[in-house]
Amino acid sequence: MELDIIGIALKLWLLNALMINCNSAAISLKDQSPIGGQGLYNASDDVVILNATNFKTNVYGSTRSWLVEFYNSWCGYCYRFAPSWKALASDILSWNDIVVVAAIDCADDDNNPICREYEIMHYPMLKYFSVNAHPPSLGLVIEKGDNIDSVRHNLVSRLETEQQEGRGSTWPNITPYRNVEITDIWRTTSSNVKYFFFIFENTDSPLGTEVILDLHRIGSLQIRRVTSDNELLCVMNKVTKFPTLIAFGRNESQRVVNVRVSSRQGVRRAIKDYVIARGVNIDETIGTTVSHDTAWNAENAHQTTIGAKSLIVKSREEQEEEQRSLKKTDDYLYQLDLENALRYSMNNEISQTKSIDGEKMEALRKYLAVLAAYFPLRRSNTYLEVIRDVVKSRTTMTGEEFSQLAKTTEEEMSPVYSGLPHQWMGCKGSANSYRGYPCGLWTMFHMLTVNFALEPNKVPQADFSQDPAAVLRAMHGYIGTFFGCADCAAHFVEIAGKNRIFDARSRDEAVLWLWRAHNEVNARLSGDATEDPEHKKIQYPAAEHCPACRYVNGSWNEEEVLQYLRTKYSYNSIKYDGISGYDSDVGTINVGNGSRVRLGRLAKEKRTTAFGWDLNVFDISICVVLYVTSAAILVLVCIKFAVKRTKKKSHINLLFKA
Ligand SMILES: Cc1cc2nc3c(=O)[nH]c(=O)nc-3n(C[C@H](O)[C@H](O)[C@H](O)COP(=O)(O)OP(=O)(O)OC[C@H]3O[C@@H](n4cnc5c(N)ncnc54)[C@H](O)[C@@H]3O)c2cc1C
Ligand SMILES: *[C@@H]1O[C@H](CO)[C@@H](O)[C@H](O)[C@H]1NC(C)=O
Ligand SMILES: *[C@@H]1O[C@H](CO)[C@@H](O)[C@H](O)[C@H]1NC(C)=O
Ligand SMILES: *[C@@H]1O[C@H](CO)[C@@H](O)[C@H](O)[C@H]1NC(C)=O
Ligand SMILES: *[C@@H]1O[C@H](CO)[C@@H](O)[C@H](O)[C@H]1NC(C)=O
Ligand SMILES: *[C@@H]1O[C@H](CO)[C@@H](O)[C@H](O)[C@H]1NC(C)=O
Repeated sequence: MELDIIGIALKLWLLNALMINCNSAAISLKDQSPIGGQGLYNASDDVVILNATNFKTNVYGSTRSWLVEFYNSWCGYCYRFAPSWKALASDILSWNDIVVVAAIDCADDDNNPICREYEIMHYPMLKYFSVNAHPPSLGLVIEKGDNIDSVRHNLVSRLETEQQEGRGSTWPNITPYRNVEITDIWRTTSSNVKYFFFIFENTDSPLGTEVILDLHRIGSLQIRRVTSDNELLCVMNKVTKFPTLIAFGRNESQRVVNVRVSSRQGVRRAIKDYVIARGVNIDETIGTTVSHDTAWNAENAHQTTIGAKSLIVKSREEQEEEQRSLKKTDDYLYQLDLENALRYSMNNEISQTKSIDGEKMEALRKYLAVLAAYFPLRRSNTYLEVIRDVVKSRTTMTGEEFSQLAKTTEEEMSPVYSGLPHQWMGCKGSANSYRGYPCGLWTMFHMLTVNFALEPNKVPQADFSQDPAAVLRAMHGYIGTFFGCADCAAHFVEIAGKNRIFDARSRDEAVLWLWRAHNEVNARLSGDATEDPEHKKIQYPAAEHCPACRYVNGSWNEEEVLQYLRTKYSYNSIKYDGISGYDSDVGTINVGNGSRVRLGRLAKEKRTTAFGWDLNVFDISICVVLYVTSAAILVLVCIKFAVKRTKKKSHINLLFKA
């Protein structure tokens, strides 16, 4: 009996050692760099960059309040929004003893748990954290509105509410002056204040507060706002238009100050000019403005033009010009892009949802069902099947649980992925901020629609095999529920409704549906700030890759397009460039004994081991080496164990008899 126990323990231990060793070999390949490289901000911006390490220590228990942008470095909207966020940070830099403008990149794997915890459902999302906030406060959402002024106005009204509710007692007084007469203002004013101003304005105007905050560091000034609902004070001071600026000097009677431009800048200028003319020294470096308005207007104008442009079919000359300006690139499908899109989706995106139930659960199930059936993982799809089945058995799940499930399953089935995370091939941008994940996601869904059409009998018993729109349904659910780029998801759902996504009557029609939808997005984004200059948004496929796809009159030959898509996105066309151990030129893989084997053959040599895992020659050769090493260590441990056993023998016997 003792021998049996030792035998079992031995086997278990060996198995364990084998798995740990094989896992660690795969894990060590992983690279920890964030998906979008360095994120959208750097040290030269006035935006404070937060990360998983310093987020809570900064935001909680602070003497200042925080306005944080949760963004995703690959999200096009975030990319376009970043200059505005930088402009806002610079614009209100002089408020930073009151509110700090910050940002955190949710595409960075390390920050993933923070973005999940704070319930970030779309990007970019702005959240306000009060002075001295404490967990479990998740911050208040601040709406972005249409432009940077609306963000600032929303922030101002938040700050006013905060002070009225008793927070921000050390801030300058931004509550409206409520007395019906101006009496004895000097009694409560610090002695270094030389001039006192009242800004009379409409009740909903942010101007007064903005000017107060802009100039609050100038010790010789004090400014209060009076709102139009303080009618008596307005009448007594003969105020008839808003804004009106009234100044008081010590030992002087009040004066109305002329404001030439009724804006924040105009009022600020008038106050400064007034006191400078009276010999008061103020620090000119405080309260400088950044001209951001032009940037916004340019962007809005730009978006209108591309909106109109997308409806116009380009002339032949324009198309040819477009082709010439393109860098000649090949149009290939890469395994690394597919796997990286899948990995980011599984490990990062889905897990950012706080809680998955109801429709979200339904969307997740459909997505996993399609992936498990049609995603071409290189070794086997057991990883996806396990996750699909676990999710199927649950009615509700938190994002965190899903994240754990994905992680442990990946470890158990390791190695699931072939390359390094964030290492893109076809989806590699000319700079870090371009392409990557959204490109990989498009590619993955095209690949799924095409192979669903090419191999209709792959999984005949699946629930969805009768539905020609099954892949589109899975994509629609995924994009609408989990895709982190909120405006992309909204546009896609809109296109889906307009173009009747679920009406596809055949699997080929579904392939063409997605092709058309993608071209519609390409047209809208052509010339956009997020366009990689080296990978222009063309009407796909390019004429150079598929001359037959267009008739001479320029309209599409859809039969040819379908043919092209069926070739490009089929399993057979997948390229394995960039996957270690695989030599793309020769199409061979190193098998570890000094010789090379063609990949096609290798795939067929896959065998199911006694443990029920699919391992190929490559895996086995690594494991054999590790096996020998483990066995050697085991022998040492066993000797030690044998020595100790003699001491504990009686104790063990007792245990097993009981
Ligand atoms: C569902 C979805 C909606 C999106 N909506 C928006 C949005 O509203 N606003 C925004 O700024 N960004 C949006 N994006 C991101 C944007 O579409 C691009 O993915 C991103 O800008 C990267 O572009 P890219 O140059 O890598 O090429 P992508 O457009 O990502 O294309 C990836 C690859 O697919 C192939 N391809 C291109 N067109 C087609 C086609 N018609 N049929 C088949 N294959 C094709 C090409 O090989 C291309 O390299 C969306 C992304 C997705 C997945
Ligand atoms: C920050 O990025 C800008 C471009 O976006 C670059 O010009 C600048 O040198 C960078 N600054 C630092 C400190 O990295
Ligand atoms: C977070 O940011 C701080 C300060 O910029 C930096 O020192 C730290 O290394 C960062 N941590 C991570 C995990 O990136
Ligand atoms: C105001 O008057 C008081 C006494 O009447 C004087 O002490 C003080 O210096 C004056 N202040 C200014 C700013 O003129
Ligand atoms: C272009 O030519 C094709 C075939 O010759 C024809 O079917 C199609 O209707 C034409 N399109 C337009 C817009 O003229
Ligand atoms: C290496 O392994 C391959 C695949 O198992 C085999 O075909 C080949 O003969 C081996 N080469 C040597 C030199 O042992």
